[in-house]
Amino acid sequence: MILQKTERINLVKLNGKTTPTSFTKEQEDLLKEYYKVESEYRYALREMSAKLENLDDYCQSNFDHNPIHHIESRIKNPESILEKMTRREYDMDFESLRKNVYDIAGIRVVCNYINDIYQIINLLQKQKDLNVILEKDYIVNPKDTGYRSFHIVFSIEMYLNDEVKNIPVEIQFRTLAMDMWASLEHELRYKSSNNLSEKDKKNLRRYSDDLYNVDLNMQRVYISAIVGEYDND
Ligand code: GTP
Ligand code: MG
Repeated sequence: MILQKTERINLVKLNGKTTPTSFTKEQEDLLKEYYKVESEYRYALREMSAKLENLDDYCQSNFDHNPIHHIESRIKNPESILEKMTRREYDMDFESLRKNVYDIAGIRVVCNYINDIYQIINLLQKQKDLNVILEKDYIVNPKDTGYRSFHIVFSIEMYLNDEVKNIPVEIQFRTLAMDMWASLEHELRYKSSNNLSEKDKKNLRRYSDDLYNVDLNMQRVYISAIVGEYDND
């Protein structure tokens, strides 16, 4: 259901009289360009989210299985974009933003089982309007912290009025167990102002491996109980 979206600033309003008179022409142009970029990534995020929901629905209808537990999505806020561009020493313009920053539109897909992740990625890769730009399998090759997830950036073909644009969307796929670990580890690291002791870091890495083993075992139980192919040794 689409209600009137009056709360959002749009280009027509920006072209009118709503910008403060203290803005220079350059600032006003930057603002307009930012809204344009932001809205394009928002469309891409919505389209990709719909694809994921449809795939989950398809699996439910055809295999009586929901691979996706839940989905979160966000548009990167301007402060984080500026922080990343500064940290990576990218040129500070919109061309560089479009070319270098792949996670402006970001989706986190939390799956029930490890196999679900690879199954969904496989189904997405078959879609003609999607192209893989980058992928990092931190499930098989976790980061030194112990972080596990599958990161993949798709560029999605977007039909906007009379132009076609390829907009990148980053998806982080993880299981419920990986999500639990990442959420708690993130909070611990953040709250201890990056001062986790070597012992705590080592333990966190170990618990990530423990959870991975639980994931593998839960996968085996799923196959045994539901698919019926469990090798019972
Ligand atoms: P960014 O510049 O931060 O986007 O890094 P990057 O482009 O090299 O991407 P990377 O593959 O490292 O993934 C970055 C994202 O993955 C972060 O924003 C987190 O959501 C997640 N992430 C990566 N490493 C960790 C980690 O050690 N712990 C947790 N909790 N999350 C992590
Ligand atoms: Mg990133």
